[in-house]
This record gives sequence, C-alpha cells and structure tokens, in this order.
Amino acid sequence: MTEYPPRIEIVGNADAVAERAAAIVGIQLRNRRPITLGLATGATMTPLYARLVAATRAGLISFHAASSFNLDEYVGVAPRSPGSFHAYMQEHLFRHVDMPAERAQIPDGMVNDVASEAARYEAQIAAAGGIDLLLLGIGTNGHIGFNEPGSDFASRTREIRLDEATRTANAGSFLDLTSVPRRAITMGIATILDAKRILLIATGPEKAAAVAAAIEGPIGTDCPASALRLHGNVDVLCDESAAAALVNRPHTNDRRRA
Ligand code: GLP
Repeated sequence: MTEYPPRIEIVGNADAVAERAAAIVGIQLRNRRPITLGLATGATMTPLYARLVAATRAGLISFHAASSFNLDEYVGVAPRSPGSFHAYMQEHLFRHVDMPAERAQIPDGMVNDVASEAARYEAQIAAAGGIDLLLLGIGTNGHIGFNEPGSDFASRTREIRLDEATRTANAGSFLDLTSVPRRAITMGIATILDAKRILLIATGPEKAAAVAAAIEGPIGTDCPASALRLHGNVDVLCDESAAAALVNRPHTNDRRRA
C-alpha cells in the first residue's frame, strides 16, 4: 500500500476556504473545456457555491462545458422535498449557473431498485470518462460522501445505512430527527478514488478530529477519509479551526497549486 500525503493548505476561516476553493474550481471552469465535476452537498459547500454563482454572474467563469455527478442522495426523499440533495443543489448552484440541466446528475433516491440505480450511476460516470475534479466535505466521523466508518475501500456506488451521528448532524434540513432518512445512496470509496483530482474542504472546530484522523491517523476503514491518502492527487483545504488537531502543520505557501 503506497501512501501519498495530500497537499494541505490552511487558511484563516471558512470565508477564506470558500474563496480559495472557488479559485481552484474557477481555473478549471475558465478553460471552458469540457470538464466533469463531482459535487458535494452540506454546509461547508454553501459558501463555495455562492462564490461560483457570483463568478458566473460576473461572467468570469462558465459551467457551459461542465457536467456533474453528485456524491449522494437520501433514499426515499423526493427531489422536490426541501431536505433532498436535489433541492440543495438547485437552490445553491444549478438554478443560478449555465450548466445544461441534463448534465447535472444526482443519484435517484426514489427508485424501487437502489442496486440497479447504483449500477446505472457508475456506468454513467464511466461513460462520461470519469470525474476530473471531485469536491468533498468530511463528516465529523470521517465519512466522505455517505461512506460511513466501516465502508470498504473497494466499495462502489451503493445503498448505505446512515450512522446516528450523521443523521443528527443533518437533522437541520428536516423537521426533526425522526424525519431524517435512515438510508442513502452514495458513490463508494473506490468510485471517489477513481476521480482524477480531489479537493476536500473542511471548516470549523467540529471537523478538527476528523481532519487529523484522515491525514495523520491510521489508514483504514475506521476513518473513510483516510483512503484519500491512497490517491496521489488530493488537496485538503482547511480553515484554522478544522486544522487545529493536526500535529504536523504543513508549510502551506509551498504547497499552493491550482
Ligand atoms: C453530509 C454529506 C457529505 C458532506 C458531509 C459534511 O452528510 N453526505 O457529502 O461532506 O456530510 O457536511 P457539512 O458540510 O454540512 O458538515
């Protein structure tokens, strides 16, 4: 098992993370060459998407030549329901940018046969030539996408049972904890590791332990994000509070790269 340390960049706060991440994504979109993005949801991504929307409106970038695949979706939550990741993506990105609607792909959590949907999604990603740049957040338990601790590093897109910690963390998008779905469909760890480049962003002190476990802890299924150290083209962008538990602070200025 060869380990590849990720490029780590630490900036002051969540705003600075969003700005830096938007610059990295923006450079790819400014090329106006076809690009396939992998997209994440969650509070960490919201300020990044706001910046990408503002840059699109200002004419600085364009999603015209982009396609996207979202990481995950809840099972049994209708796309129009406000807690769905479909709704999140529409609200925060898709309805504000110029990416053709048919090129924005999200797993369908309303199908009867989730296994077939998972296989279809994998095939679609492969048919698109794979993901060029995949955005990731991280759960407080080290999950990426909805790959909870214990997820096999060889896993592909599949149905997964959500940890109670994850359901609690995501309860804000639902009426109450009992309304939070128990199952989701997510790209697997191997699907994620197939992306050509990965950008993980983390903000806030509640992510500090997960970030340290992912970067400095043992590589293993207890911390799904530790799998990223097997990839070789990963940027981890944190604010100071999310980086607070790292023992080895990187020399951030030497590692900048876009
Ligand atoms: C969610 C998503 C992940 C996300 C993570 C952190 O449940 N499935 O893709 O990265 O948990 O979310 P947040 O940014 O809201 O902390």
